[in-house]
Formats: sequence, structure tokens, C-alpha cells
Amino acid sequence: MHILAIETSCDETALALIQTEETADGTIQVTVLENLIHTQIDIHREFGGVFPALAKREHQKNIVPMILKLLRKTQSSLITETEKATGAFDMDQQPRKHLPSELQETLQTILAKEPLLYEQFTEHLLSLSRPQIDAICVTNGPGLEPALWVGINTAQALGFLWNIPVIPVNHMEGHLVSVLVPEHALPAEQENVSSFSFHKEPFALPVLALLVSGGHTEMIQVDAIGKYHLIGKTRDDAVGEAFDKVARIIGLPYPGGPEIAHLADNYHTHPTPAISFYEQVAQSPSLLHEPGSVFPRPMIHSSDYDFSFSGLKTAVRYLVEAIKKSHHDEIPQEFLRPLCYEFEEAATDVIVSKTKKAIEETGAQTLVVGGGVAANHHLRKVLTETLEPLLGRESIIFPGRGLTGDNALMIALAGYFKIQRDPHVIYSDIKAEGNMTLS
Ligand code: KG4
Ligand code: ZN
Repeated sequence: MHILAIETSCDETALALIQTEETADGTIQVTVLENLIHTQIDIHREFGGVFPALAKREHQKNIVPMILKLLRKTQSSLITETEKATGAFDMDQQPRKHLPSELQETLQTILAKEPLLYEQFTEHLLSLSRPQIDAICVTNGPGLEPALWVGINTAQALGFLWNIPVIPVNHMEGHLVSVLVPEHALPAEQENVSSFSFHKEPFALPVLALLVSGGHTEMIQVDAIGKYHLIGKTRDDAVGEAFDKVARIIGLPYPGGPEIAHLADNYHTHPTPAISFYEQVAQSPSLLHEPGSVFPRPMIHSSDYDFSFSGLKTAVRYLVEAIKKSHHDEIPQEFLRPLCYEFEEAATDVIVSKTKKAIEETGAQTLVVGGGVAANHHLRKVLTETLEPLLGRESIIFPGRGLTGDNALMIALAGYFKIQRDPHVIYSDIKAEGNMTLS
């Protein structure tokens, strides 16, 4: 089947088109016909974080041109043999079609809150023949609601125009199944199509999913794909959010995760000139959580699987204030690397310790790690070293590079599994759910 996926939950407008085929032995063959990601990072950087109204506007501006780009590139895969033979489907040659007025009214109702989209739909999309797409999958939560609505309304309007079912997909389920995509299936916007495969029951069960992103830090027990049980989550900041906020405190640009990771990695390899940083820390003993660790490891010994990162961020803030006080209101350049290193160590310690405990206590056979923070090398390394004796290397699975951040390929895959589970369900009134959980 052909699946079109739309993702607009945060600051990436993403579209993907995949073709799936199940073989007799239960192997799912996936061909990635297109995988487009338009990031808004440069726009949000100015504000030091994602500004929802701006994210919405950017999604509205970019989504229809991206749909046209996707259709243009993939049209030869989406037309019938007759259309191929007669040359009837050519995006640039099609006569303008007008919808009967009652259908036009329905489209107007679907896009009532999206005048810009309605304009673009009538200008560019009405004239197109129905492409051979079997389902449109769209992220409907969790995420920023104004941003989510753009994707949902677009999907509903396309579904209506082309008479194709629309399937709502949980963004976190997308991150969870993103580990099935191997590295070679990317990068985005590559010239040639790529393909990969996996077995329809891809993991040794039960699975523990560690989902770490800018908005979420969750531990989920997975009894099967589609059967989820949330066993732990952050009580305040998500871990990616803590990286972003700490970056802001020390003057690094948004998103802070990669910036901090880069400085911390660099300190790992060249640790020498940090003595003055540790002298400064020693001068502020009240800031020390316990001897030997610069920053606290919040909730590391708690009896549950919950997290809390806001205290860690505050500890960084206090130390930075003390440093600035004794350095003419500036952070000496040579303090940045050890500071990032110590913060990353603290966050990693907590995550790894809680994950180990969850694996031991739930009897999980597989660990999958997804979300933006799964790009962090140090976290990957320590998780692997710590859990390899319990699970074996093969059963600790991370997404390929380029698939840790938000993308629509993961939404197409999660949608595929959802369609297989409930092939006959019709989802008619899809709503954005900013705080949706996986269950
Ligand atoms: O999954 P994602 O792209 O968006 C959300 O769904 O939130 O995650 C983005 C988050 C940001 O907070 C970003 O700073 C963080 O992932 N991130 C990282 C790294 N790369 C991205 N955090 C730590 N280390 C990294 N290498
Ligand atoms: Zn995400």
C-alpha cells in the first residue's frame, strides 16, 4: 500500500510517502518514495525556543508547496497503468477542475480556520487527479496544538478531495518505531528511492521504550506494537528541554542539545584546561550536591521510573551565577566544556540508572530509544555499555542518524502498524491533542 504521512507537531514540517508490501514469510518491505523535512529552526532561534503561533504560520506557508513537490517527484509511482499509457496524469498539463459547489463548501468548512491553505488548495490541488494513495497518516498529538492543526486540516482536506482515509498517529509512537529504519534509508530529500525491510513482529517482547525529546521523557512498556503502558515520565522539564534551557543559561543557541553535546564530547577528548572550573566549583561547596559530583542526579534513587530535570537545570543556573559573579559577569570560555560535560553526565546518569532498573524489573528483552535526545552520543554509549550485559548488543536499538529528530517517515510507519491492527476503523473527527499519551 501507498501511505502519505504528514507531521507538523513542532518546528518541522515533514512529509513522507512510502510503499509497503508484506511477503509470505511476514517480512514488510518498505520503499521510501519521498521523505521531506523543512525545519524552522533558524526562525525560532531568535526567540530561544519554539514560538507556537510562528510555527503554525510557517507550516501553513510551506505545506502545500511541499505536497506539490512530493507529488511531482513521485507521480510515476502514484498513477494507474491507464494514466501512464495515455499520459493523462501530468501535473503541469492538467486542466483546471472545479469542484461542484457543495463539495467546495465542504472543503471550505474543513479549512475554515486555514484561509491561506484554502487559497493554496483551490489554486494548486483541486486540478489534480486522485493519486493512488491508500491512506493519509497525520500526527494529531502530542505537540503544539496550533501546529498540529495545520497538519490535521491538510490531511482531512486531502482525504476529502481524493476520497482517501485519514489515520491519526501518535507522535511518540512514531519515535518508537523510528528504530526500524536503518541509516541507509535516508538522508532526506535524496535523489533515489531507498528501501528497507523488517519482520512484522520486529522486536523480542516485552520491549522497554525510552522516549527522550524536547517535549517528553517517557518510559513505556511495550507488550506489542500498539499495546503500551506508560511506566514513567518526567514530572517537570523533559530532558531535551533541560538541554535547551541550560544552553540558554550559558548563552548557546537553540536547540541547545547538539551544542551542549558537542562541547561535552570535546571535553571528553581534551579534558586538560578545566582545573580553574573545578577550583571554582570547590569554592562554592554549597553548590555541590555530593562530594565528587558537580550537579545533582534528581530522583536517581526514587522507587518509581519518573524523572525530574528542572532541579538539575536550576543547579546549573546557580553555579553559572556564582561563576559570573567572580568573573565580571561573564562565563570564562574555558568553563563551557567542563560545565556541559558535567551537566550531560548528570542527565545521562539518571536516565541510564532508571532505564536499567526498569529493564531488570519489567523483564524487558529489548530496549528501543527514540526522540531528539537519542542523537546524544554519550547517552547512547553509556546506555549500551550498561545494558549490553543484560540484553545483548542486538537488543539495544537506536534510530539511524537523521531519524532521531522529527520526521514523517516515522509517522508513516506508525500509521502502517495502526492500519494493520485496525484495518476497518474510520477516523472521522480527528482533533489535535497536545498532551496525548501513548496507551
Ligand atoms: O524529537 P525532537 O526533534 O522534537 C520533539 O519532539 O521535541 O527533539 C528535539 C530535542 C531538542 O530539545 C534538542 O535539543 C534535543 O532533542 N537534541 C539533543 C541532541 N540533539 C537534539 N539533546 C542532546 N544531545 C543531542 N545530540
Ligand atoms: Zn519528536
